[in-house]
Amino acid sequence: MDAVNRGAVNRILMKPFDLDDMLCAVNECLEQVRLRLRNEELLRLTQEQNEKLEQRNKENAELLIISQVQNEKLDSWNQALEKEVAVRTAHLDEITEASIYSLAELAESRARDIGGHLRRMQEFARIIAEALIADEKRRPHFLVKEYVDDLCLSTLLHDVGKVGIPDGILFKPGRLEPEEYG
Ligand SMILES: [Fe+2]
Repeated sequence: MDAVNRGAVNRILMKPFDLDDMLCAVNECLEQVRLRLRNEELLRLTQEQNEKLEQRNKENAELLIISQVQNEKLDSWNQALEKEVAVRTAHLDEITEASIYSLAELAESRARDIGGHLRRMQEFARIIAEALIADEKRRPHFLVKEYVDDLCLSTLLHDVGKVGIPDGILFKPGRLEPEEYG
């Protein structure tokens, strides 16, 4: 009876006890106990899983913080690198520009009678390019400000070939002999 009562089986057993009823009550009680034990086991497993999940969440949170710190460091390095590249690119541009001006002046020094010729050609190139840019129907797609700047700078070199021509030919008055061409 005690076992039946502890099993919380709602059953009235009348005296004298019927053996089948008693067996049925005991079986129900055993089933209740089995279910309770099973339930406790499931609860224990659930708690274990929850603890593991909590631990994993903690680890993930730590990894996330580490990852964020690493990303911030990478961003900082990238910004520093971008600045460094920009500084070096600007420096290279300055060197290129200085080299072009030096070569242009050298070429201009080889032309005795056309002072300011290279600068004038540069200005003509800019005026023509800007007129084309202003003309929406005729403007080539590549003709943007950066292209015009490069074009005007390289215009300074259009006579650089004079540097390699011997004085006797470059400054010769009158017509050249056939063998002096080329
Ligand atoms: Fe020229």
